[in-house]
Amino acid sequence: MKISNRVLDMNFSPIRKLVPLAHNAEKKGIKVYSLNIGQPNVVTPDAFFEGLAKYDEKIVKYSDSQGIDILIDSFIKSYKKWDIELSKDEILITHGGSEAILFALMAICDPGDEVLIPEPFYSNYNSFAKIACAKVVPFLTTIENGFHLPPKEEIVKKITDKTRCILISNPVNPTGTIYTYDELKMLAEIAQEYDLYIISDEVYRQFVYDNIAYTSFMYMHDMLDRIILVDSISKHYSACGARIGLVASKNTKLIKHILKLCQSRLCVSTIEQCAAANLINTLDSYIEDVNTKYKSRRNLMYDYLKRIPGVVCDKPGGAFYMLVKLPVDNTEKFAEWLLTDYSYDNMTIMIAPASGFYATEDLGKNEVRLSFCTNIEDIENGMIVLTHAIEAYNSLEK
Ligand SMILES: Cc1ncc(COP(=O)(O)O)c(C=O)c1O
Repeated sequence: MKISNRVLDMNFSPIRKLVPLAHNAEKKGIKVYSLNIGQPNVVTPDAFFEGLAKYDEKIVKYSDSQGIDILIDSFIKSYKKWDIELSKDEILITHGGSEAILFALMAICDPGDEVLIPEPFYSNYNSFAKIACAKVVPFLTTIENGFHLPPKEEIVKKITDKTRCILISNPVNPTGTIYTYDELKMLAEIAQEYDLYIISDEVYRQFVYDNIAYTSFMYMHDMLDRIILVDSISKHYSACGARIGLVASKNTKLIKHILKLCQSRLCVSTIEQCAAANLINTLDSYIEDVNTKYKSRRNLMYDYLKRIPGVVCDKPGGAFYMLVKLPVDNTEKFAEWLLTDYSYDNMTIMIAPASGFYATEDLGKNEVRLSFCTNIEDIENGMIVLTHAIEAYNSLEK
């Protein structure tokens, strides 16, 4: 029986595909440190669980497709702190940022339309585009340039009459780069000149270190009808499993059409929306505390990496990832070998090979994405393993 070309054409997640190998290693008694995934180890604030306990309905009903009022109100209030003004008819609650991006792409792309994305990029962008039958058109950012954007001429070269939008995350997953005001302004100008939308994925907005200035596309007041904001509580509040996010835009015509997609999946989990409504806005101290933690974890990982001969990395200004060049021939093979054939002191690591974060074939083959949202001890042990593993791998006969 037939399997659709759409699915055949999709890849397994570079972040998750090695998990079965990690389970096998664990069955052999090896401790596996997961540096592959952006699953924060900090506890979800009590306010979330208190919100769950407050739910006192006797029936778990569907909620409105656009999301429940108290949650939308909480988001509106929280955006005010960022000087972002949004109203109820400009926000739709989604199953995480993931569904928000997917719905945004489905609402603006017809089959064959093109989505311009700086690469490396969050690997699921590839999947979302494929589900929407759109084509990812990448433009390159490099480690040597701190993964900042190339000049405008490089980007506009990629625009065709099928280009519909520019999709970015800021801070960037997988590099932790924070785009400057000038970079965003350049993308804004391109969007205006070529009549494009911008999907601005800001799920890491709160994780910015070293007093770097952060700019949101929502500050580009002269073009807000082109901006589609994606957000989520997954990373901000360490609530990845709650699956609560949103898509927002001042373009209420577009939002109205996206609502049709929301209605087709009926609603987002009612109880989790109530819990999330109780969570947002209660917690400035939590965010500060988490930021301090991530910053010291970043510093620790970076300091270790700088000491490994042949490793090239840039200290990220935000999010909780680093994209790192390793002195190995192929990080896909290396990442598998770490789980199938290697241990140091009965420990090994799971890492995400970077080729899955590129759309251009053959890029990222000697890079990996490392996540530093796990605890200090795991990062430290992980870096010890990595240091020894590179040496052991390179001394193998191949
Ligand atoms: C850049 C980026 N956008 C969106 C998402 C989706 O997050 P969620 O669906 O959990 O909100 C992630 C998850 O890792 C991400 O890294």
